[in-house]
Amino acid sequence: MATTGQLIAPIPTQLPELKPDTYFSQAQWQILLALVDATVPSIISDSAVTDKKDHLQIPMSQLEDSYMRIKSSMRHPPDYTKFQQYLQSRPLDNPRFLQAVKRILEGVPDTKVCFAQTDPLLRELSGYTEVADDYKPGPSFDFDFMQFEAGIEIETIDTDVVIVGSGCGGAVCAKVLSEAGHKVIVVDKGYHFPPSQLPMTAEAGVKFLYEGNGALQSVDGSVTILAGSCWGGGGTVNWSVSLHPQGFLRQEWADQGLDFFTTQEFQHCIDRVCDFMGVSDAHIRHNHGASVILNGAKKLGWAAKPCPQNTGGAEHYCGHCATGCGSSEKEGPSVSWLPAAARAGAKFIEGFNVSKVLFDETRGMKTAVGILGTWTSRDNNGNIHTPESERVQRQIQIRAKKVVVACGTLNSPLLLMRSGLRNPHIGRHLYIHPVGQMNALFSEDIRGWEGGILTSVCTSFENLDGKGHGVKLEPTSMIPHMFLHGHPWRSALQWKLDALRSRQMNSYIAIARDRDTGRVYPDPHDGRPTVEYSPSALDRKHILAGIIALAKMCYIEGATEIWPFVKSIPSFVRRSKPTTPAADEGDDIDQGINDPDFVAWLKNLERTGLNHPDATFSSAHQMGSCRMSAHPARGVVDPEGRVWEARNLYVADASVFPTASGVNPMITTMAIADWIARRVSKDLTRGEQIRATL
Ligand SMILES: Cc1cc2nc3c(=O)[nH]c(=O)nc-3n(C[C@H](O)[C@H](O)[C@H](O)COP(=O)(O)OP(=O)(O)OC[C@H]3O[C@@H](n4cnc5c(N)ncnc54)[C@H](O)[C@@H]3O)c2cc1C
Ligand SMILES: *[C@@H]1O[C@H](CO)[C@@H](O)[C@H](O)[C@H]1NC(C)=O
Ligand SMILES: *[C@@H]1O[C@H](CO)[C@@H](O)[C@H](O)[C@H]1NC(C)=O
Repeated sequence: MATTGQLIAPIPTQLPELKPDTYFSQAQWQILLALVDATVPSIISDSAVTDKKDHLQIPMSQLEDSYMRIKSSMRHPPDYTKFQQYLQSRPLDNPRFLQAVKRILEGVPDTKVCFAQTDPLLRELSGYTEVADDYKPGPSFDFDFMQFEAGIEIETIDTDVVIVGSGCGGAVCAKVLSEAGHKVIVVDKGYHFPPSQLPMTAEAGVKFLYEGNGALQSVDGSVTILAGSCWGGGGTVNWSVSLHPQGFLRQEWADQGLDFFTTQEFQHCIDRVCDFMGVSDAHIRHNHGASVILNGAKKLGWAAKPCPQNTGGAEHYCGHCATGCGSSEKEGPSVSWLPAAARAGAKFIEGFNVSKVLFDETRGMKTAVGILGTWTSRDNNGNIHTPESERVQRQIQIRAKKVVVACGTLNSPLLLMRSGLRNPHIGRHLYIHPVGQMNALFSEDIRGWEGGILTSVCTSFENLDGKGHGVKLEPTSMIPHMFLHGHPWRSALQWKLDALRSRQMNSYIAIARDRDTGRVYPDPHDGRPTVEYSPSALDRKHILAGIIALAKMCYIEGATEIWPFVKSIPSFVRRSKPTTPAADEGDDIDQGINDPDFVAWLKNLERTGLNHPDATFSSAHQMGSCRMSAHPARGVVDPEGRVWEARNLYVADASVFPTASGVNPMITTMAIADWIARRVSKDLTRGEQIRATL
């Protein structure tokens, strides 16, 4: 029985054993770790007696100055001893830090991220906890995943429909098709984690919940790309924002010959998915970060509104969900759609990596007849951190009347390519909603990781070119490593001091509806999704306008320091005190954003043009790589989701968007999947009727 005051924590998700350090020689490790040490070093005063190598020594006066700055700008500054300890702590002496660095060496080692994920003093002084104080795991659905014996020969299963991918698109298809009475199997290469294991530690979260260990970047390094890969896909890690596709977008798609998007039937699809998830903005309690958008926009004469959330009508005041939601309040695929599918008889396989779609080509046309892939079991204790070679691996073929591909925008085109499809549009027209980011310091003790991640949006800048391209301005996840990753690094001391003040920061994003596109293709060596995308000049111009607007909102809401994620721009440090109307005297009017210091700083920012590598971007919304078209020469799938090149093969995920949605894409993805699934069901029934009359 739980006693009061006893802290409950999620069951830890174990990580795989680190490989022995064979990929670097001893000398290479030393060099690399020396570089790591230079980014977030131990910082001490030059009067301290010590061997000089392992520390950055700064003049005593600078150390004392720094402390005075912290003391005057923080609500709860550490005492001087603790402050010195924090600066002096050396991440490399922390085994958890060292492991985190080695673990991400497959990608680019971002030591600032590892530091923010692991440093015990940063955690203590910022007040950040990985788990909300009132953590209590929500109800869990007991998925009964199919299991297979070890064996060399291919195991074969038969079904009506196989759905590849359990994310937002796949999960909706699973419910619709199984409730229509068809035999459905859903497979995903990721694994299921019940609420009792969520949220995960940051290191386990990136490993087990995200595509490419959360370290995917575009080829030129300009964009960091986040996509979910686990049971429930992006629906397990996304931030609950449930915005409907807008009228202008539906018209744009209809103008491409896709009339469906302006029909009332599409509206029914949207309403069905929103009703099922209890999408609503009635119960939101906005945290500080969200209030800055709402109040700041109001003071500047801009439009802002609460973002509807798919939280089944619950308040859900929780900011930890980016590494999985422990409360089950967010009605994601694994909480609502897939359980509903299970109740209607759907079967599930986790840890199943589909390598290709199988075709019958006897009649000169490709007809999908199933899929082939590799299943990797859990170990005997139900864990997945042990080596794959010690778990059962089995080649499995699922024979089906219809194959629905819903692997997400990064993987669906790759699966089609691996299966031998040749349509040149596959993998092209990739939209990513590139995001520019900014951190701001306030005088309040905010603890931004408390409260809904993203509950408000400013919409005044979403149409900057008259064609619906522009930015939405939103708060973002306040899990420290997620907003400190791009926080500009100019010196070790500055960065460590800024990180120390993270409990008084908010972070904001300008999400662009991109006009220009990139592409995704398989890495020639290992087949992983490789993204070629650099934000275009027009899209960067829009993002910059968004960052400037965000800075203005933060300024007017009292921010004392502002950092756009642009290396060449020093932070804006406010000298003037925020005034109140009552404080006006004589000719001194409240200048607000006309504060000459601020105006001059904005001018500088405007001149940067956000060029990479001076500026960096991120993306959590990938769309369009298998776009829908009214004609086979213009896209990959027809207006009902059928792949133009083959029979009995459908795509039903965000990859079929004809252009970028502008809104956060989950609801649009689900509504389109609802539509396509209903067509699949009709096609299946029609097929049976034809067979019956033969
Ligand atoms: C951090 C984050 C926050 C987000 N927040 C929001 C938000 O607040 N609101 C919103 O509207 N949108 C949000 N999104 C976007 C939203 O999650 C995606 O648009 C949505 O999940 C897309 O659905 P999908 O079906 O296309 O793909 P996904 O949901 O990504 O699902 C694809 C699934 O396919 C599986 N798969 C891939 N390849 C294979 C294979 N070969 N074999 C088997 N399985 C495979 C993957 O493991 C994955 O589980 C967010 C995304 C992220 C990453
Ligand atoms: C994201 O997407 C799903 C919809 O599939 C939503 O219902 C779910 O609760 C969201 N997940 C998170 C963690 O916000
Ligand atoms: C899944 O299969 C594809 C194609 O066979 C391969 O390129 C990829 O590395 C595999 N992924 C995993 C996680 O095993």
